[in-house]
Amino acid sequence: MYARDRFNYNPAAVKEKKVLKTTQCGELGSANNGQTVQLAGWVNRRRDHGNLIFVDLRDRSGIVQIVFNPEIHPSPHKLAESVRNEWVLQVSGQVTPRSADTVNSNMSTGAIEIAATELVVLNESKTPPFYINEESDVDELLRMRYRYLDLRRPSMRDMLQTRHKAVKYIRDFLDARGFLDVETPILIKSTPEGARDYLVPSRLYPGKFYALPQSPQQLKQLLMAAGVEKYYQIAKCFRDEDPRGDRQPEFTQLDLEMSFVDEDDILDLIESLYTELFETFAPDRVILQKPFPRISFNEAMQRFGTDRPDIRYGMEMSDLAGLVENTDFQVFQTAINSGGIVKGFSAPGLAEMPRRQLDDLVEFAKGAGAQGLVYIALASDASSIDDLTQDHIKSPVAKFLSVDAVKAIAHKTGANPGDLLLIVAGPSKSTNTALDALRRELAERLHLADPNVLAFMFVVDWPLFIWNEEESRWDSPHHPFTAPQAGHEQDLESDPGAAMSRAYDLVCNGLEAGGGSIRIHQRDLQNRVFQILGYTKEQTEARFKQILDAFDYGTPPHGGIATGIERLMMLLLNNDSIREVIAFPKTQSFIDPLFEAPDFVEEDQLRELSVRVLE
Ligand code: AMO
Repeated sequence: MYARDRFNYNPAAVKEKKVLKTTQCGELGSANNGQTVQLAGWVNRRRDHGNLIFVDLRDRSGIVQIVFNPEIHPSPHKLAESVRNEWVLQVSGQVTPRSADTVNSNMSTGAIEIAATELVVLNESKTPPFYINEESDVDELLRMRYRYLDLRRPSMRDMLQTRHKAVKYIRDFLDARGFLDVETPILIKSTPEGARDYLVPSRLYPGKFYALPQSPQQLKQLLMAAGVEKYYQIAKCFRDEDPRGDRQPEFTQLDLEMSFVDEDDILDLIESLYTELFETFAPDRVILQKPFPRISFNEAMQRFGTDRPDIRYGMEMSDLAGLVENTDFQVFQTAINSGGIVKGFSAPGLAEMPRRQLDDLVEFAKGAGAQGLVYIALASDASSIDDLTQDHIKSPVAKFLSVDAVKAIAHKTGANPGDLLLIVAGPSKSTNTALDALRRELAERLHLADPNVLAFMFVVDWPLFIWNEEESRWDSPHHPFTAPQAGHEQDLESDPGAAMSRAYDLVCNGLEAGGGSIRIHQRDLQNRVFQILGYTKEQTEARFKQILDAFDYGTPPHGGIATGIERLMMLLLNNDSIREVIAFPKTQSFIDPLFEAPDFVEEDQLRELSVRVLE
């Protein structure tokens, strides 16, 4: 138990021995000299100097040095001989100034130490499987297996603290603007967000299942129907989707929804919130552009091959079809004739890349979905692009391309002598995906992305439907509740691909930080969208009756957004791994090594749930 005023010195409580701990280790300093304190924490390190024993005692606030002197207090000194790293101790003693030559300016408590008068061992510890008292590289699986030890490390403690403060900041920010925090259920029914559902079998209704929410999407819309007007929640979401570095099967969203708003209301709110969050928690970082630039989905795809571009660096892509359609290179012809694209960009200063690395780059592009990769090195000794000659051009396809064609490509991609042109031809989707991957890869190798810069942007003007080639049907880029833009309602059926939506994404440094839209709030329109997406009347009725019914009872116009809390933390802490910003994450293959989940369950449990597992 702590003293009443938890993290502050409380001498009365010490005297009465009412508490285990009066003071936090890391908060002590010269101002406390002469005070008697009672500390409790973990042994960060013990040094036996024969006569004196020094213990660095650590708690959540930091570390302070304890000195055990056998001549003054023999019994605690004797006990201190046996303590080891990570043992849990309670120590009473007096705060004393260190002599000038022993002051440690690297420690916030380095000007003082505690002369121990009493020592109680509250618990012992085995030797931990990795060092907790230093930031060494430890196998991630081991860290996750012993997450409670990993979280003792200062960097992880800081992460937990920043996450707590950032979420509190968000809550305060929205509270001040009249938002209500409303909890929504975890056991519901399927809500389509583009992933598979996690299902929970019902014991009471054999054969029936709950689904865990992929997001509270329909619930927050129902709260608008309920007249809440401004809702938010720090909401848990569950998605059974393919693992990726910035994804977890369960994650947290700042989910919000507002009635009687348009796009600007939502985007301005989020822009203010994110600007304040980064100014508060990452004051040394620079937001590249304020207000956050808004670019259309089409422009993002054209210039960067992705809907979540990293605009901290160049290497923008150009459509090269018009420049290469008359060349003799068959690959380009085939792509163009079959409705595909030819696109490329210029990688600065890479003309001298050795052959083997170029081959690796080709393999990388193929791994990312390209059919092939054409590279053209422009020798650095050419005085300008206009002065290029055949000798300046090194490429496996040089013989198919005229010097003029290469010059034109170089001009279009903004290349200079010494650069490497990279070109992919093929179906639009896979070509863009591959070029995006290549651009990110090269930016990383060339250290082009300044880690101190935050390139926020809103991607707007999304299509309402995107054609799913593999399954020959229309998909929603966001979800089916997204409203079409004004003037696009009439032609949904006749030309679904041309309909634009009122969706938006928040993107930062190549990461999708959030997404949302103004919603449909009329049954007819919603039904038409479901129909175009291929839902039968029965499916629509079975899955979406609740929201369609609500539209019949005065649902106001509304819209909202959800941003990923983990993605926010990754950006705030400049960490590429989502697992580093979660207390108890799953591995990259979505396993929990601490609880060893998922796991088999008892036959009895399955029987109770009327569930049988197929071999
Ligand atoms: P969306 O599906 O875009 O929108 O999700 C919103 C944000 O949540 C984060 N996110 C994830 N973070 C970690 N792991 C995942 N598997 C994961 N999936 C998504 C991203 C993403 O931008 N209901 C809509 C929001 C709305 O329309 O208001 C929704 O969930 O940062």
